[in-house]
Amino acid sequence: MAAFTRLDKRLSHATGLTRSRAQITIRRGQVTVDGTVVRDPAFKVAPQAQVAWRECEVASPGHRYYMLNKPQGVICATSDESHRTVLDLLDIDNKKGLHVAGRLDIDTTGLVLISDDGDWSHRITAPRHKCPKRYRVTLVAPLDPASVAQFAEGMVLRNEAKKTQPAMLEILTPTDVRLTISEGKYHQVKRMFAAIGNHVTALHREAIGALQLDERLALGEYRPLSEAERMLLIA
Ligand code: URA
Repeated sequence: MAAFTRLDKRLSHATGLTRSRAQITIRRGQVTVDGTVVRDPAFKVAPQAQVAWRECEVASPGHRYYMLNKPQGVICATSDESHRTVLDLLDIDNKKGLHVAGRLDIDTTGLVLISDDGDWSHRITAPRHKCPKRYRVTLVAPLDPASVAQFAEGMVLRNEAKKTQPAMLEILTPTDVRLTISEGKYHQVKRMFAAIGNHVTALHREAIGALQLDERLALGEYRPLSEAERMLLIA
């Protein structure tokens, strides 16, 4: 029969939180076992029990999967001499194998996925899977409503030979739009708006595929994905 495990150990294994950070998280009442808040880090958890952190079930130990709300000024790299990286924001002991599944520019904010599961990341980033990415975009100049058709038809970007894939543009106000693209060329969103003579002043990624950025995460905060969220991206 599989053994019962201490709650802090199970949380730490499943999420990569250090044992002491897991204990603080548990004492703060952020962790439930089978739907009930448990504040005792030494609580013995049955193998089949469901453990959740901030209402999200934590995946079984194995690969690690996180969503992070990237602030400006932080880069999507595993290490860097002069800038803080998204991995620096993770308060976990073992960062071996962790990488970003889909980078954002240094000045872009929002949803970044981090994992040590290369197959999973590949499903999200490989061009042939055409995983949609949704952005909130602030523009310097009011947008002509005719741009919606231009984005849907595709456009040729500077230094590119082929048209972009159809993209969905939703105009919220003349200078505030939502754009969904299903490819990830270098600086793609900024270059698309440059191609129509506009300029992006702020860019925020709201969703990747069916997975939305958790609104409860402040800039710089992260949390593990639940099993259901992990599956959403490879369904
Ligand atoms: N497109 C951009 O131009 N920048 C990003 O960070 C993401 C998409």
